[in-house]
Amino acid sequence: MIILGIETSCDETSASVVEDGIKVHSNIVASQQALHTRFGGVVPEIACRAHTDTIITVIDKAVTEANIKIKDIDAISVANTPGLIGALLIGLTAAKTLSWILKVPLITINHLHAHIYASKIEYDDIDYPAISLVVSGGHTSLFLTQSETRHTPVGGTIDDAAGEAFDKVGKILGLGYPAGPEIDTISQKGNEKAILFPRSYLKKDSLDFSFSGVKTAVLYHCLGQDSRDSGENPGLKDRELADLAASFQEAVVDVLVNKTIFAATRFSVKSIILGGGVACNSRLRQKLTDAAKQRDIPLYYPSKKLCMDNAAMVAGLAYHKYGEKEVAGLEVEAIP
Ligand code: KG4
Ligand code: ZN
Repeated sequence: MIILGIETSCDETSASVVEDGIKVHSNIVASQQALHTRFGGVVPEIACRAHTDTIITVIDKAVTEANIKIKDIDAISVANTPGLIGALLIGLTAAKTLSWILKVPLITINHLHAHIYASKIEYDDIDYPAISLVVSGGHTSLFLTQSETRHTPVGGTIDDAAGEAFDKVGKILGLGYPAGPEIDTISQKGNEKAILFPRSYLKKDSLDFSFSGVKTAVLYHCLGQDSRDSGENPGLKDRELADLAASFQEAVVDVLVNKTIFAATRFSVKSIILGGGVACNSRLRQKLTDAAKQRDIPLYYPSKKLCMDNAAMVAGLAYHKYGEKEVAGLEVEAIP
């Protein structure tokens, strides 16, 4: 079964052709990063316009690269929640139009569930139940996953998302947007024990997250230096910058790893699944790998291209939803 997937929930316009949930024939991602960098974050209005400008080209490329004809498509899938409402609507409208013209089923997908599914594209031996951690620019969520399509939320952030904390701290440190990848690279030359930033665990046994405290702690730390000011280079020497980045990253990673392992133990799961843009982080991958190995729980995370927003994860998951006869009508809405 050949499914065309569409993803426009934030600042990437993506379309992908996936066969039987795992054979990725194409996965085109048009990033808008260059348009948002100078604002230090995603500007919804700019994101919507860029999606409108590129969606047709991206879909066209996905079909061409997959070497199929548009009439070979058996179903259309699209992420319709959560995300920026205007951005979601552009993907959803394109998907509805194609579904109507081609007379094929429309399958709507939860973007966070798609991030969890991304691992399944590369590993077919994932055992359920699993604890899934989705860490991205907009979300930090823990799910108890019973199957590809069944996910119960068990924890989430009460303020900033993990990726958002990376991006905001990057701004404080005078780095570009998005800052996650740069903090990851810079940290490799730093000492993660140089500064003890706070780790917020909230109430005892809580599976929720809070990253606003560590972000503020970095800001206060920088304000004590010679020059600073959010958004400008605070005049840190390379060594200081590396230590700060590594210490901040360590604080975030520690909380993510400890809460995920705690949840995995509490629910006696058979696997841990990691997904979302922050799942590209090398320190998070390493520490979660070590912690999972210690407890003998298999850990799965996808390659970097499938961690970031992409439509292959949408089209892949849609295959399973279609198998469960979960098809949407043309009246289906986008939910931010
Ligand atoms: O999943 P994603 O592509 O988009 C959303 O759904 O938000 O995630 C983007 C986020 C950004 O905040 C970015 O800074 C972060 O993922 N990110 C990283 C790394 N690569 C991307 N954060 C930390 N370390 C990385 N290597
Ligand atoms: Zn995402």
